[in-house]
Amino acid sequence: MSLVDDCRLVTLERFESPLGSLSPLYGGVHVPFAIKRVYYLYDVPGGAERGGHAHLALQQLIVAATGSFAVTLDDGRSRRSITLNRSYYGLYVPRLIWREITDFCTGAVCLVFASLAYDEGDYIRNYQDFLAKVRSPAAAEDLK
Ligand code: TYD
Repeated sequence: MSLVDDCRLVTLERFESPLGSLSPLYGGVHVPFAIKRVYYLYDVPGGAERGGHAHLALQQLIVAATGSFAVTLDDGRSRRSITLNRSYYGLYVPRLIWREITDFCTGAVCLVFASLAYDEGDYIRNYQDFLAKVRSPAAAEDLK
């Protein structure tokens, strides 16, 4: 299993010029996985809450490509909230972390680099199911 402390901010390289900025991102270099899929959230209305779920196997890096939003991370024991508001920061989220994304500003784009293709079977969408999973004896054993 994973801990909230295993989630970390990754600072990407920045190429700045008077014509704008550019940040490259490589799987296996900036994130500890090969990037299998990219998706993004956009046109998110004010007050919306996205991403109330955890994944059994998927790892991800979340980037505020434009604007800002808050990511709340929960490992079943502790919670931490991080505001993403710079395009050159990525938030690495390992497997088995419950995450919620809120407080989207108008026009925010949440870009997600994922280790796996979309698979509904990899989702845990019920918080009680998530707690049961991460608080199981097998999960505790995994932490030792
Ligand atoms: P979901 O992951 O539930 O979005 P969020 O957690 O941000 O609220 O996905 C919303 C819908 O989009 C759901 O019907 C599944 C679909 N979807 C795909 O088809 N492919 C994808 O890569 C993702 C992330 C979602």
